[in-house]
Amino acid sequence: MVDAAVGGKTGIDLKEGKNLAGAFWQPSMVIEDTDCLDTLPDELFTEGMAEVLKHAFIMDTELFTVLKEKADNGHARSIREDPEFIEKMVAMNVADKVSVITEDTIDNGRRQTLNYGHTIGHVIERDSDFKLAHGVCVAKGMGIIIDASVAAGRLSASEAETMKGLIAAYGLPTEDDITPEQAVAGAMNDKKKRGDMISVIVVDKIGSSEIVKMTPDEFLGFLKAGCER
Ligand code: GLY
Repeated sequence: MVDAAVGGKTGIDLKEGKNLAGAFWQPSMVIEDTDCLDTLPDELFTEGMAEVLKHAFIMDTELFTVLKEKADNGHARSIREDPEFIEKMVAMNVADKVSVITEDTIDNGRRQTLNYGHTIGHVIERDSDFKLAHGVCVAKGMGIIIDASVAAGRLSASEAETMKGLIAAYGLPTEDDITPEQAVAGAMNDKKKRGDMISVIVVDKIGSSEIVKMTPDEFLGFLKAGCER
């Protein structure tokens, strides 16, 4: 509802990796009824929050602020009980997604920023034989990139703590035991890889993100430094 429903990306997972076969196919209409969320078990709802947090981190300080306010007031795990908040939150996410895909429908530019946390998340997901939920893996991927970004001097330690604290407040993990070597090897199969370069999405400041092209060796060094923090 907050991500995949908008943008016309269709795909299937292959044993080699996540979403490796697919096409862009825009629907003629998207109807979102937030009451449908009431049918979800808590784990699935929580999983979806990874994409919400992603939007806040990469592009939306207003969304970040409302999510943080809820968390600071101890209500992060009970947002399901606040239908007005849910409706506002979903609308903010849809607006974010629409603004990105209007600018870049076929993933050649800004749309790639939506891959924040996904390059590593997809490897974790595939290595779990798709048993771990997508949102859980994306949250872990964001945590790993956050650590690496601090080690690279691209993100302040205090913003990193805030981001990781917010992911945890919404019930998602920020760590995984994947090694940098496994992450890089897996990223070489990612559908977003172009040529020999890996597009790494980095948040330098909450609310803004950048696509950083790295060679596999550069990506390895980036991740290793993050592990040593
Ligand atoms: N879910 C990311 C995208 O639609 O590009």
